[in-house]
Amino acid sequence: MERKPRIGIMTGGGDCPGLNAAIRACAKTAIQAGYEVIGIHNGWQGLLEHDDEVLTGQRTSGIIDKGGTILGTSRVSPLRIENGVQRVLDRVDVLGLQAVVVLGGEGTLSLGYKMFQKGVPVIGIPKTIDNDIMETDFTIGFQTAVQVATDALDRLRSTAESHDRVMLLEVMGRNAGWIAVYAGLANGAEEILIPEIPLTEERLDEVCERLKRRRSRGIRFSIVVVAEGTQLLGKPILTEDHGTSADTTAPRLGGVGQMLGEIIEHRTKLETRVSTLGYIQRGGTPVAYDRTLATAFGVKATEMVKAKKYGEMTALKGIRIVNVPLDKVVDRVKTVNRAVYNVAKRFFAR
Ligand code: F6P
Repeated sequence: MERKPRIGIMTGGGDCPGLNAAIRACAKTAIQAGYEVIGIHNGWQGLLEHDDEVLTGQRTSGIIDKGGTILGTSRVSPLRIENGVQRVLDRVDVLGLQAVVVLGGEGTLSLGYKMFQKGVPVIGIPKTIDNDIMETDFTIGFQTAVQVATDALDRLRSTAESHDRVMLLEVMGRNAGWIAVYAGLANGAEEILIPEIPLTEERLDEVCERLKRRRSRGIRFSIVVVAEGTQLLGKPILTEDHGTSADTTAPRLGGVGQMLGEIIEHRTKLETRVSTLGYIQRGGTPVAYDRTLATAFGVKATEMVKAKKYGEMTALKGIRIVNVPLDKVVDRVKTVNRAVYNVAKRFFAR
């Protein structure tokens, strides 16, 4: 009996809500189109270590609302492993994969493009809560993170009001402040600090002055949101142990909220408290928007497999789902849309 054509699918980098919805959509539509679908475990590591499974309709049923990824994830790069590229090429050959669908953020998609250049038939799907991938309006996971951060800010606002405090929330956003801006806007935050706008001495003064003015006008609470990647006086703030995650060399960010909170309290004499949202914004069930976007991307990826659109990525442009070349995406960061930031800014303390 002739073997069905096969495709592989993997998730790499940090997880996010909506990955399973995309895996489900891609696998089910590919099966309908006559493919056998191989789920590769833990990103590129699964190809290096021959760790995979056949994804059936049954295995991919009932997962549209599940957080995380049923395939597991890692940031392992074949480029950093001796003979890694050849091992991946051999495995793709042995499995007979016509395409490898890679769900990734900027790092994983850049790696995917390099692997494509080395001969792997990669098709990308953009996912990251950070929403910092070029050529797509939104990425899978972003809207869920925004909702979680907005809920947290709403809760902080009520306790800020009770205690006459400045409440500061640190959210994720390594290179871009998308979560901070959208959640801050939705909550009506008094200040939003993002990596795109350096926190200089002058800007720090400005922020403190505005918070003090607000208090002197009789408004006794304020909400401040800061993205983890915001540099404080020219320096990125790293976690205390300066550690990295096991499979990456990128330094682990964290702590800018705490430092900023101390500075604000010291300079304004307003009682200030700091919370860090951390991994809560990356876990759990995806909101409806992320499920529908992930499903649309999964369906599109199968169409791209059929059309042999290797080296390309699914993307959202307005309300259209399109494919874009990965070389326009790699090693670049989509920074916050200034028009959106300016809307949020209209409601800052003044
Ligand atoms: O890329 C998404 C992200 O959530 C960043 O905002 C954050 O800095 C990073 O992942 C943390 O990833 P991990 O601790 O899993 O390596």
